[in-house]
Amino acid sequence: MSDKINVTVLFGGQSSEHEVSRLSAQSVLENIDRERFDVNIIGITKNGEWLKFDGDIKLIGSGEWENVARKKLIEAPKSQDLTCPEAPTCKSIISLNNKDDKNNIHVVFPVLHGPNGEDGSVQGLLQLADLPYVGCNILSSAAGMDKEFSKLVFSNAGIPQAAYIKVMRSEINNSVPYIINQINEKIGWPCFVKPANAGSSVGVSKVKAPELLKDALLHAAKYDAKILIEEFIDGRELECAVLGNDNPIASVVGEILPCNEFYDYNAKYIDGKSETIIPADIEPQIMEKIRDYSVRAFKALGCSGLSRVDFFLERKTNRVILNEINTMPGFTNISMYSKLWEASGIPYSELITRLIDLAIEKYEQSTRSYERK
Ligand SMILES: Nc1ncnc2c1ncn2[C@@H]1O[C@H](COP(=O)(O)OP(=O)(O)O)[C@@H](O)[C@H]1O
Ligand SMILES: [Mg+2]
Repeated sequence: MSDKINVTVLFGGQSSEHEVSRLSAQSVLENIDRERFDVNIIGITKNGEWLKFDGDIKLIGSGEWENVARKKLIEAPKSQDLTCPEAPTCKSIISLNNKDDKNNIHVVFPVLHGPNGEDGSVQGLLQLADLPYVGCNILSSAAGMDKEFSKLVFSNAGIPQAAYIKVMRSEINNSVPYIINQINEKIGWPCFVKPANAGSSVGVSKVKAPELLKDALLHAAKYDAKILIEEFIDGRELECAVLGNDNPIASVVGEILPCNEFYDYNAKYIDGKSETIIPADIEPQIMEKIRDYSVRAFKALGCSGLSRVDFFLERKTNRVILNEINTMPGFTNISMYSKLWEASGIPYSELITRLIDLAIEKYEQSTRSYERK
């Protein structure tokens, strides 16, 4: 019997970040230490079907894997089957085909971004199945995904952020004049409008004048019923990677130079002209402040495993302002998260190993695990 740890890489999903997840997963699979880990692959299609995949991992990034995937595990309309009271059912789904793993540890690596992947839902499923998994738990994933909740937690931790107003989708039609007044009083123009729960800049707009507000709100409302209107920060965009459980460490800080007016979807994934600078050319005390805020944000939210924390460095004032946290950041070998660790002395393959070890550590320290002993 193999004494390797079994790792199920879960990728894809129904969020707008499906494609990004495929790229992250292919990268993980190409670089995971096969001496230590036996790998099992499950892709979730855009329709929500769970498909076991044992073909060529190079087909994942492009999406071709789906045609080759042989064994259909769960049909989308039946996904409620996963919430059955018999949690072992979920476990048997995940560990299907790993016949000799009965005595081995089985870890799930949900390489999923965005709603229904990074927001606590899949984490809840894995929790029910009593499986160790890489990354944040239900609460920190959900709170990290929701930009309003995370703002409340970070402000309680004393971390500076942009001023904002919350608007619900149901308020848009009747309240635009009132919202414009509030923006005039609290935020000013231009402002940023964004869905509270989304990612990859989908639904995000820079609004330069009141007459453009309603369209921006309706656009954001396509992605979430809750919308945030934020003060525009004229700043450099800086990012920091955090790794660990109870005693997390922060990487060096990197800078993004978006090729568009802001770091929108095209600047992130399509144009290919945005640049990253690692380490960022900033004063050492600014670097330290960002690393400190990153670890504080990670702890305040109760994160585990990994997170990338994104900041603005305001040009005029040199103020450091937290923009958002990503509990499952883009995770290819050339993503900011991985590159920040590489520049901090942890190569990509080792990063994957550490994350899996952290998942096992978190699981072994969990209440349920204690109860079992
Ligand atoms: N308040 C703001 N001021 C200036 N730029 C912003 C602001 N909020 C967002 N942006 C720009 O929009 C991008 C995407 O917004 P963000 O809140 O990070 O959403 P996402 O979770 O989709 O990445 C940021 O990287 C930045 O370029
Ligand atoms: Mg962002």
